[in-house]
Amino acid sequence: MKALVYLALGKKALDERPKPEITSPTDAIVKITKTTICGTDLHILKGDVATCKPGRILGHEGVGIVDSVGAGVTVFKLGDHVLISCVSACGKCEYCRKQMFSHCTTGGWILGNTIDGTQAEFVRIPHADNSLYPIPSGTDEEALVMLSDILPTGFECGVLNGKVQPGSTVAIVGSGPIGLAALLTAQFFSPAEIIMIDLDDNRLEVAKRFGATSTINSKDGKAAEAVMKMTDNRGVDTAIEAVGIPATFELCEKIVAPGGHIANIGVHGTKVELHLETLWDRNISITTRLVDTVTIPMLFKTVRSKKIDPKLLITHRFKLDKILDAYETFGHAADTKALKVIIEA
Ligand SMILES: NC(=O)c1ccc[n+]([C@@H]2O[C@H](COP(=O)([O-])OP(=O)(O)OC[C@H]3O[C@@H](n4cnc5c(N)ncnc54)[C@H](O)[C@@H]3O)[C@@H](O)[C@H]2O)c1
Ligand SMILES: [Zn+2]
Ligand SMILES: [Zn+2]
Repeated sequence: MKALVYLALGKKALDERPKPEITSPTDAIVKITKTTICGTDLHILKGDVATCKPGRILGHEGVGIVDSVGAGVTVFKLGDHVLISCVSACGKCEYCRKQMFSHCTTGGWILGNTIDGTQAEFVRIPHADNSLYPIPSGTDEEALVMLSDILPTGFECGVLNGKVQPGSTVAIVGSGPIGLAALLTAQFFSPAEIIMIDLDDNRLEVAKRFGATSTINSKDGKAAEAVMKMTDNRGVDTAIEAVGIPATFELCEKIVAPGGHIANIGVHGTKVELHLETLWDRNISITTRLVDTVTIPMLFKTVRSKKIDPKLLITHRFKLDKILDAYETFGHAADTKALKVIIEA
């Protein structure tokens, strides 16, 4: 089968690989119909993710058709149309029982990281009963690809952890696919203001179309002042960090209002300064989270009922044969205006 393989720092190739086989009774093999590329795949290629070794097939998002199942799989059968969670979960360990699937002792974020992923014709899904979701007939596949990772990430790590409330003020730093997913799902709670902050005017334009009440281009280094001006010097009730660099986390520390919440989403590779000298008396909370994908079923319903339309995030489409072009397009988002690219296997 064809698969996108991480070869070495900065190097990848579309290779021929053997079709995966069931190795445990709880596995399923899924024939991929649609997958996509995540910012995290670019982090892997830059060498930021130490657990992902050369030789790995990348990808942790996608939808497909069940091709075979192990003897222990009870929920799915050959031919079922399924959505793949980016997080695999046994459903039985201590963490899974707390709904903390991201820390499953025999799962978590392993797809396209420590085991072969979804940017291929077929993928092996461990703990299939708890890591796949059935797709009812007549549902739009492309929109569902956004449910494997980015929508639950924006919602769980950003909106839920950030305790977005009706009438509250929210700032989202980073208007990439994840920041935009947080923007879409924050609106479930009807905040009064959602301020989007980014360096890229195109992405801020998209954010306006997605419901941002105001946008700030932070390239002049004055975003904190702008937010304070917009909020009568109070700051925001929820500051969501969706970039993953020190500057953006520190911006969140500057703009959080008393009693507010900083919800970190970004993957950080370097240390960040914690300004307790200004924050100790402000009654704030800071949260971090690796997405658990426990909200997939609920988000699925909101997509089906058209409360949100994640398809708006899709800007480009490619065949699996052209996945290297898809990486080029996605990797140069400022020039290509790419958000999410769909890859059809
Ligand atoms: N916690 C989790 O479970 C989880 C899951 C998936 C992704 N992530 C992480 O979430 C982050 C966002 O993902 P994405 O796919 O949207 O990434 P992305 O790179 O597509 O988007 C990041 C955005 O931040 C903007 N940006 C960069 N520097 C900035 C600055 N100094 N000020 C303001 N904006 C700036 C960029 O222009 C871009 O629009 C990444 O770090 C990703 O690895 C975390
Ligand atoms: Zn991802
Ligand atoms: Zn588990």
